[in-house]
Amino acid sequence: MSERSGAVGNDPFNGRPPTSHERLTGLPWDASYRGGPAPWDVGRPQPAIVRLASKGGFAGAVLDAGCGTGENALHVASLGLSVLGVDVAETALAIARQKAADRGIEIEFAAADAFQLQRLGRTFTTVLDCGLFHTFDRDERPRYVESVASVTEHHGTLYVLCFSDEGPDTGPHPVSEAELRAAFNASKLWNVLDIERDRVQTRFHDDGAPAWLATIKRI
Ligand SMILES: C[S@@+](CC[C@H](N)C(=O)[O-])C[C@H]1O[C@@H](n2cnc3c(N)ncnc32)[C@H](O)[C@@H]1O
Repeated sequence: MSERSGAVGNDPFNGRPPTSHERLTGLPWDASYRGGPAPWDVGRPQPAIVRLASKGGFAGAVLDAGCGTGENALHVASLGLSVLGVDVAETALAIARQKAADRGIEIEFAAADAFQLQRLGRTFTTVLDCGLFHTFDRDERPRYVESVASVTEHHGTLYVLCFSDEGPDTGPHPVSEAELRAAFNASKLWNVLDIERDRVQTRFHDDGAPAWLATIKRI
């Protein structure tokens, strides 16, 4: 079901090609989770996701793609939904599983590559992407968009919360509204319903960084 294979030999990327972000930093994503919390790992769910959930935005089986240490996924699961969180960072997944055990929340966490989600062999009604899309460069986006579509039920919903390019103090991978819309609409697999201004909390922004919250429907 998942790609939980542990390291392939000494390959820190476990047999997958490194992402543009990993090539840029020279480090696998997993390294971000060793030796203290990563800049985005704020220890609580993102307010934008809590708000979405309180309005009934999550339904059916839920996938959190690039779940990190799982705060958003755990929040949604705590409301009684069936949630799978996936990530390439085994250290983050281990932390997420420990949180679930400590809090008594039923949830699954598995290693999987967001470019190969069809390997999960299951589909989801709602997919959450909090801070993953914006880490991909323009060349990677079409493959990601197709991969997420392969596991999203027809008429299912994808939420993307990503850094925006508007205003001062933007996050490290700012995306324009037009780029975000084009990435999904270009595929013919998705219909971007709505893009709202929001904030993403980080450990370095007092009041969060400017963000887009996109609601995207699988055709
Ligand atoms: C900016 S962090 C956001 C983590 C989490 N969603 C949160 O809000 O705290 C991006 C996450 O995406 C994961 N990631 C990056 N590329 C990935 C890929 N190809 N497949 C799955 N996860 C990936 C990273 O390991 C990291 O945990």
